[in-house]
This record gives sequence, structure tokens and C-alpha cells, in this order.
Amino acid sequence: MTLPRLRGAQARGEKVAMLTCYDATFARVLDDAGVDVLLVGDSLGNVVQGESSTLPVTLEQMAYHTRCVAQGKRSAFLVTDLPFGTYEASPQQALASAATLMRAGAQMVKLEGGGYTAETVRFLVERGIPVCAHLGLTPQRVHAIGGYRVQGRDDSGAAALKADAASLADAGAAMLVLELVPSARAREISMAHPHLITIGIGAGAGTAGQVLVLHDALGLTQGKRPRFVRDFTRVPGSAADAPGLSVAQAVAAYVAAVKDQSFPDEAVHGY
Ligand code: KIV
Repeated sequence: MTLPRLRGAQARGEKVAMLTCYDATFARVLDDAGVDVLLVGDSLGNVVQGESSTLPVTLEQMAYHTRCVAQGKRSAFLVTDLPFGTYEASPQQALASAATLMRAGAQMVKLEGGGYTAETVRFLVERGIPVCAHLGLTPQRVHAIGGYRVQGRDDSGAAALKADAASLADAGAAMLVLELVPSARAREISMAHPHLITIGIGAGAGTAGQVLVLHDALGLTQGKRPRFVRDFTRVPGSAADAPGLSVAQAVAAYVAAVKDQSFPDEAVHGY
């Protein structure tokens, strides 16, 4: 998978299936099941390291897990998060951090934040580093936001979201994760920027693709399962005690549901 191929799929109206991934074995399983994009998310702080947020994750840890995933994958496109504190100071700091991740095998880096990151996005893109932006709920800012809650619900929030998406698209971001935003807003942004590969998580069905944290998709959510998550190890309509699907089958079910647009179901998973 390459960026032009992802763009081609988007132009043909094919949905992009993305999952987080942190090691070589899962990289092989996800790739074989047809996942288009693997994201080495800094959610590894939560689901691998047992931290309560993504903030403790370091650049060295992201590079290590990127290398693990790069070793296991065959053809999926590999995106890695720039972790907290490794890109905000200056475009030059972001370039040095992104280079570390690209050397480890990333094909694109993801960074969180609004229009204030546009200068950094442009700087990286001009130097040959594809960038995925991330708007809506941005977990690295959880303490500033005050919790994991839906963003862009009111008029001023929606206007800020649209303005941020426009400035990031203008700066050259190729992909944009929209996390926990009302479905209507994510759809509007996706339609306004047809060259931006929008990827939703808790953002409804109107984006170019979907992403979930792997552990959530496999029914391993710790604590209360967020509304936007579906456990793909369960066969819809089956009894609660019915045997679940294998990991490979569950991931294939996720890919199929994203592609045939049965996931997300806005009535069930949307805001
Ligand atoms: O770190 C991560 O897993 C992410 C996804 C939730 C998009 O950024």
C-alpha cells in the first residue's frame, strides 16, 4: 500500500480500513486480513504499557514499536504517532523526531493539534515526510480538555474544527484523523476536502476511512466500552455465551464492515 493507492481507493469511494498495531505478530495478522493502514498509535501507553494516558510515551518507545510492526507487515501502509513533547517546540524539533520514526520504518507520521501545527505540517511535507493530522479529541491534550469527550458540538467548536481542517489541508496534510466529533461535522469536513483522507474514530460514517484501537476491536477494552467501539470477535446477533471469532476472523470482519459501510452504524456508534 502506498499513499497514491490510498488516494486512488478514496477517489473510487472505497473505504480505508485502519487499525492500531504495536508488534510484528499482529502486523502480519492485520496485514493478511486486509487492513490498509497500520497505526503505531501512542495509545500503546494505554493498551501496552498500562498507563492512564498517552503522555508518558517516548520517541524511543514509538521507534521501537514502529520497527517491530515494520518487521511483521507485508504491504499495509505504516503510520506512527509523534508522541507528546517531541514536535510542539518547533518544526525543526518535529523534523528530527519524524526522521527517527521514518528510519524505524514509518511511512507517515501523525501529530495532534489544530491550525497552530500547520507550519510544522508544511515544514515536514516540504521535506518529503507525509503527515497525518489529528483533530477533535486529541488525547495528548486530555488535561487541557478536561476529559475524553466529544469535541465540536457547539457552533464555535464546529467552526474551529472546520477552520483547523482547512489550514491543515492547505499545509499539505495527506490524512486527517477525526476523533470523537459529531458525525455531521466529520462528514462536512470530508466533503469540503476531497483530497484529504479523513479517518474517523467516533466520527460517524462520512469519513474516507475508519480506525479503532486494536484492543477495542478485539473486545479487550478495559473498563466501560466507548459507544463508538464494536467488539468484532462477537458475531452480530449471536448469544452472549456463543464462541467468539478468532483474532484473524475478527480483524477480517472489521475490514469487511468498514468496506461495506456496515460499521460504523451512526445510530449505534455515532454522536
Ligand atoms: O494513538 C492512537 O491509537 C490514535 C488513534 C486513537 C487514532 O491516535
